[in-house]
Amino acid sequence: GSDITPRYTDMPKKFDKWEIERRNLIIHHDKKLGSGAFGAVYLGRLIGKSMTHKDANSTLGVNLMRAENCEVAVKMLPEYADELSRSEFLKEIGLMKSLGYHERLVNMLACITDSEPLCLIVEYCSDGDLLRFLRDRCKYMMKLDELNINYHECPIDDNYDPDMIVTLKQLLMFAVQVSYGLEYLSQKGYIHRDVAARNVLVHEKNACKIGDFGLCRYIYSESPHYKSKLQGGRLPLKWMSPEAIRHYEFSSMSDVWSFGVLLFEIITLGGTPYPGIQPEDMLSYLEEGGRMDQPDNCPDDLYSVMAECWQADPEKRPLFSQIRQKLAGQLEEIT
Ligand code: ADE
Repeated sequence: GSDITPRYTDMPKKFDKWEIERRNLIIHHDKKLGSGAFGAVYLGRLIGKSMTHKDANSTLGVNLMRAENCEVAVKMLPEYADELSRSEFLKEIGLMKSLGYHERLVNMLACITDSEPLCLIVEYCSDGDLLRFLRDRCKYMMKLDELNINYHECPIDDNYDPDMIVTLKQLLMFAVQVSYGLEYLSQKGYIHRDVAARNVLVHEKNACKIGDFGLCRYIYSESPHYKSKLQGGRLPLKWMSPEAIRHYEFSSMSDVWSFGVLLFEIITLGGTPYPGIQPEDMLSYLEEGGRMDQPDNCPDDLYSVMAECWQADPEKRPLFSQIRQKLAGQLEEIT
């Protein structure tokens, strides 16, 4: 039988609550925030009002109302992009529409897909990615150490910047925030597939959000093990579980593994995982039982969460809800 139900993707763009007109978006081409698998991310601004005029009767995106006249990040597909990149980009936009809003995600605000260049507009996070954020602070605190300055006593010094000091409490808070976001994703049936500090963004120095949904996939409840080659070259081997490296088997359990590596990155202030091991040697290293040691300054109970995430048997790894509860408990203990 023929299916005459119009698919969502067939809907005229003007009825899509996410679509905005290009003149309502200012892109600061001189303020590049980053570059992804395809195209770059720029700082931008959504300008208000006009969004309501396009389709006054629609239930306008709640997100859009919130976003009026605010700074945004604009992911843009270059006009010379090939068909594959184009379809991947449109897939990412479609996926973000379906994700739903969550405080711990870099939420989609709008898009432009009815003309080139295609744009995905998301929340702007003022402090960039978590990896860079942590590494900057690591460098700063090491410099103070060298100068024998005790940074917990707040020395009166023009060069001293208290925002550059991170505490264990703040690190645990980041870990809890990210686990909330991943708990939400997994419960909605999504796997991220690229959980790593470089894909977490920091807003106003104290809020982490999960970003870059380029590799994110929706898993139908019947097939919790998503099997697919990651497209486009570079694999994040040091963040991937053994079953993901060997069989391209991705699941919430493999996201949990990656989250363990992310915990390592957090507690080491942006350390590189498995120093001295080549990415291509990772599978044999892991299958021989190799794991990262407890980093200096890493509390025992935090390391035990990491170690649980790195169980060889995916079924033995904790769920994100359990991880979130444990980390929140640890945070409470030091508060
Ligand atoms: N870099 C990539 N995406 C970003 C965002 N949403 N906010 C800030 N920097 C970014």
